[in-house]
Amino acid sequence: MTKVLIDCDPGIDDAMALALAAGATGLDLVAITTVGGNVDLSLTTANALALREFLGLGDIPVTPGSAGALMHRTVRAGDVHGDTGLGGAVLPPPLLAVAEGHAVDCIIDTLRAAPGEITLVAIGPLTNLALAVRREPRVVEWAHDLVIMGGSFTRGNHNPAAEFNILADPEAAAIVFGAGWTVKMLGLDVTLTAMVTTAELDRMRPLGRLAELLVPAAQFYGEVTEHGGPAIHDACAVAYVLDPSLVTMVPAVVNVETVGEFTRGMTVVDFQLRDRRPNALVATALNVPRFWDLVLEAYGRLAAR
Ligand code: BDR
Ligand code: CA
Repeated sequence: MTKVLIDCDPGIDDAMALALAAGATGLDLVAITTVGGNVDLSLTTANALALREFLGLGDIPVTPGSAGALMHRTVRAGDVHGDTGLGGAVLPPPLLAVAEGHAVDCIIDTLRAAPGEITLVAIGPLTNLALAVRREPRVVEWAHDLVIMGGSFTRGNHNPAAEFNILADPEAAAIVFGAGWTVKMLGLDVTLTAMVTTAELDRMRPLGRLAELLVPAAQFYGEVTEHGGPAIHDACAVAYVLDPSLVTMVPAVVNVETVGEFTRGMTVVDFQLRDRRPNALVATALNVPRFWDLVLEAYGRLAAR
């Protein structure tokens, strides 16, 4: 059973990633931490609280973290995820409150308590993780693994150079990539292939109450057609944890551009190692049919509970 802490900014595809984690077998979600990202921290936290109960995640802690980037004004993606962050989905108001403390302490304490056991999955801006690394560098050795949705080696989405999660806090991303672990990076190069088309939407519709989250959220996120639709980026990171054989990973040296006039937030990915130690394994291909089978089986399991 893989123990996982998810740091997130829900976010439509964050919600779909959390639903995958909730329905999966072989994954033990031990904590959720939130960060300002797609929408403000107050909303990402409110959404995480609502999702915890809607997805039947019991009383696992939801701990709020950083509201903004380390050094500069950040960016938001409310235009993509809607004013609430969950698009057209409306969830019942949660009964349980947030855990006490700060996400950075939750990350450090959770890893310290189980060294070598917890996989960190970061699907928002990397601010909380960077602060955790700065505050307690041993989190790098305590983490079993670090899997992120972020960056790309081909293109950006928020602008031509930069992917949203990295652009939202490039300095934090630079700290995380430079911390000494091997970051498992699932960037736009593969996540943009994980699209909700009419075929997937048709498999979500019969999922009862869960469909009330998935269907309006997906439809808000982008136009769903037979051959294309919105990509559920963040679910790729959780899917990789569940089944690494879904993804082709290639060792690389990844640097984050923090000063470029037109390229700030770009992940500069060098697959030519030239005797250097890789600081990342970068996803270059995703088996999309098997990805969707895994995701929809987990959603089906969750809906049947
Ligand atoms: C990433 O940015 C956010 O808008 C999504 O939730 C995802 O984490 C995709 O670039
Ligand atoms: Ca996200």
